This record gives sequence, C-alpha cells and structure tokens, in this order.
Amino acid sequence: MALQHSDALVFYGATGDLAYKKIFPALQAMVRRGSLNVPVIGVAKAGWGLDQLKERAHKSLQEHGGVDDAAWAKLSDLLRYVDGDYADDATFAEVRKQLGDAKAPAHYLAIPPSMFETVVKKLASSDCALGGRLIVEKPFGHDLASAQKLNKILLEEFDESSIFRIDHYLAKGPVHNMVSFRFSNSFLEPLWNRHFVESVQVTMAEDFGIQGRGAFYDQTGAIRDVIQNHIFQVICNLAMEEPATKDSESIRNEKVKVLKSIPDLKPEDVLRGQFTGYHDEKGVAPDSQVETFAALRFSVDNWRWSGVPFYIRAGKNMPTTCTEVMVRLRRPPVTAFSSGIGPQNYIRMRISPETTIALAVSIAAASNKDPRRGVEMVATRHPGAEEMEAYERVLTDAMAGDPTLFARQDYVEEAWRVVDSLLRTMPPVKPYEPHTWGSSDEAIMPPGGWDNPKPEASDDFRLIEG
Ligand code: BG6
Repeated sequence: MALQHSDALVFYGATGDLAYKKIFPALQAMVRRGSLNVPVIGVAKAGWGLDQLKERAHKSLQEHGGVDDAAWAKLSDLLRYVDGDYADDATFAEVRKQLGDAKAPAHYLAIPPSMFETVVKKLASSDCALGGRLIVEKPFGHDLASAQKLNKILLEEFDESSIFRIDHYLAKGPVHNMVSFRFSNSFLEPLWNRHFVESVQVTMAEDFGIQGRGAFYDQTGAIRDVIQNHIFQVICNLAMEEPATKDSESIRNEKVKVLKSIPDLKPEDVLRGQFTGYHDEKGVAPDSQVETFAALRFSVDNWRWSGVPFYIRAGKNMPTTCTEVMVRLRRPPVTAFSSGIGPQNYIRMRISPETTIALAVSIAAASNKDPRRGVEMVATRHPGAEEMEAYERVLTDAMAGDPTLFARQDYVEEAWRVVDSLLRTMPPVKPYEPHTWGSSDEAIMPPGGWDNPKPEASDDFRLIEG
C-alpha cells in the first residue's frame, strides 16, 4: 500500500554538522520548489530555543548555496524546535505536542547510530511513531552482525515499508541515469556482458583528506565509508538486469540479485593504503591501520558477467576529485587490419564533478605514420551542478513515500555480507604520499591499468592519448 505524504518532518540532530551542511539547504530548496509545506521540527540537546535554531539555519544557508529570501521566510515559519535529551520521555512528549494533528510524521534520524535504539523506542512509547515513517542516515552498522542488529531494532517499531535508509549517492542524477542509459539504448545491450566487456572499473577519488572527521573516519575507513554503500550502488546500476516494471520493489530486487552474485571478498582481493600524515589528524590513533585508500577486485558470478573482472578504487588525498566508471570492451580479434587496431573501445561514465557519458572508438587517421587513433564520442556532458541536490531529492521522496532511492534491509545486509569476512582479515595498509593515486599492486589492477580521470575537454570529440 502506498504511504501517504508526510504531514510533518521531525529531524533529530538539528544542531549538528549534517543539518548545517546539507539539511537546511535541502529544506530551503524544497520550499522553493513547493514540495515542503508542513511543520519542520528540529530536535537536539543544545540548551537552545527556536530563535537560535533559526539563526543557525540562516547561517547554514549563507554558507551553503545562499539564502533565497522568499523561501527562507516560508521555511522560517515552518520551523519549530524541541530541546532535550534523547533518553528523556519529556523530550518526546514535547515532540508529540509539536506534531499537533499530524497523522503521518517523518522522523529523520540525523544522529549517530549509537542513539538510534533509544530514539526509536521513545518514538514508539510516546506515540510519535503512530502512522509515521523513519528516515535514517548511514552508516547502517559497521559489519553484517551490527547491521542485522540495527535492522532488528528499527523493525521492532516500524515496518520495512516505512523505513527509508539514505544513501545519498543513489539520489545523484548521474547514478540514477546510468540505469536509463543502459536500458533505453538498443546498441548497448548486446555489448553489455561477458562476451564484449573486458573489465569494469570504478574510481572514486577525492583530493581532500578527512576534513577534521578523524574520530569518525578512524572507526570507518574507505571500505565502510564509501565502497560498501555508495560504490556498490553504482556497481548494481551497472550490472543489474532490467526490472520487469519500474516500481521500487522490482528495481530493488534486481540490485539485491547483483550483490548475491558477488562472492565474499578475501584479503588477496584488496589493497589498502593510508596517506602519509594521517596519524597526525585529530581523533586518529597513533598506530591506526585504517585505510584512507582501497582498491578491490571481485567478480559478479552470474550468466551476464561471469569471468569479467570488476575493480573499485576509492581514496582520500588523491590528485583530483572525481567519480568515474570505465567499462573496457574486448579488442577485436586478429584480422587483416590488426597491425593498427589502435586504442581500445570503452564506455566512460563520469558521475562527478561533471556528468559525462562517452564512447571511445578507433578510427582511421589521415596519415600513414599514425594509422589509427582513438576518439571519444561524447553522448552527454553537463558541468557540475545537478538539477536537484541529492539531499533535496531523498527528503522529497521519503516524505512522498517513494522508497526507490533508499536501501532496503536485504540490500544493506547483502552488501555487508560481501565485505564481512574481509573486514575481519584485512591486509596491512601501505603508505602513499598525499595527492598521488594511492598504493598500487599489479595483482589488483584492471587489464590495461587504472583509468586516472582527466579534466574534461570542452568539445564533443576527445582524442585519446597513447
Ligand atoms: C560520504 C562520506 O558518505 O560521502 C565522505 O562519508 C565522502 O567521506 C562523501 O566524502 C562523498 O559524497 P559526495 O556526494 O560529496 O561525493
């Protein structure tokens, strides 16, 4: 049964970092677009009043995207604030009071997972959960057992259909559009399998370090922070079969099938790195073995992908910030033209900072000295900004009751299953210098090497080097 539209939004962690950087800007954008017109209740324990929350919200907008005076005025009218401890019944009695006649409130837990159990239980005992839904932020556990435990806690008070687990990567336009690109182009489907694809690689590079998040990051590392969630979502979109219909469950079923086809990762499938200087970061243990870079190799053992190696590489303090997919196609067999077959065909999809889909072909060149050359044909390229920021999209969809862009319980647990035994037997980290491409190892390298993302050209054809 479809959920009704939420008639109030309560967000816990209202004075925190996530609210400051992402939630207030998303709320303003929703008001501007006309998708938010219900009370918005911030909850935190800061000894604040509503005026201070409004001041903080205004400052957050100034710093993150700018204030739209008309939208801010409306948002400011919708804002309410409850100050109190999450362990205290009085806090939730006040939330209930602020909810007034609301019959389908959305409770958004922008708080550390260690607080989830307390808050979820209080929501139930105070009747705030009645008719409501729960929006939760990653991390959903730190391994399979903790994810199962967390899911059990949430499911005791809420139905799976009213739990919305945010992975903001899913809400990125280019990640979403990968699926429509794959299934709306008939030329692609015959190629998109083990007969034509030689390897698939995804790079998520960030040219910054851990940005003061040492205490969090040192408990997390690259595999848990971005690979097990964000990049696995990208892999599912690349590898899944076409769902029979476009409804959320058919799409999510296909993603789970991809994960089920990935065998448990082993220590020899992973290379872990740590940038020099990581130990000097605040909150990091002096002898920390947490990875700030990881490269993984795995297979998707199903009819479509059997034998095709998949690679993921993600790291902090890389030379650039870019997330890019590179699908290399097999070279043609030996023919009369083999002396100059030239560069390999590939399909490149850039997720950020630009959005690009490009296809590389080998063409005959004019001169005999340089008989063939590789050229990229660019199908689409947009500069940075996405039409709808990821947080605006997820909050809008969660309030509308559309679960497509959220991680389902079985998906989350299956994603942890893939990395679970690895997390207990990790190889040591290898150091790398900041602003390099991390540690490298021939054993975990795609055939033909890693594709290091380059600055986008501005024309629709790009000559491929080498
Ligand atoms: C977050 C991670 O989930 O995703 C961060 O915790 C990472 O470490 C971020 O930087 C990347 O997301 P985006 O949208 O900024 O590329």
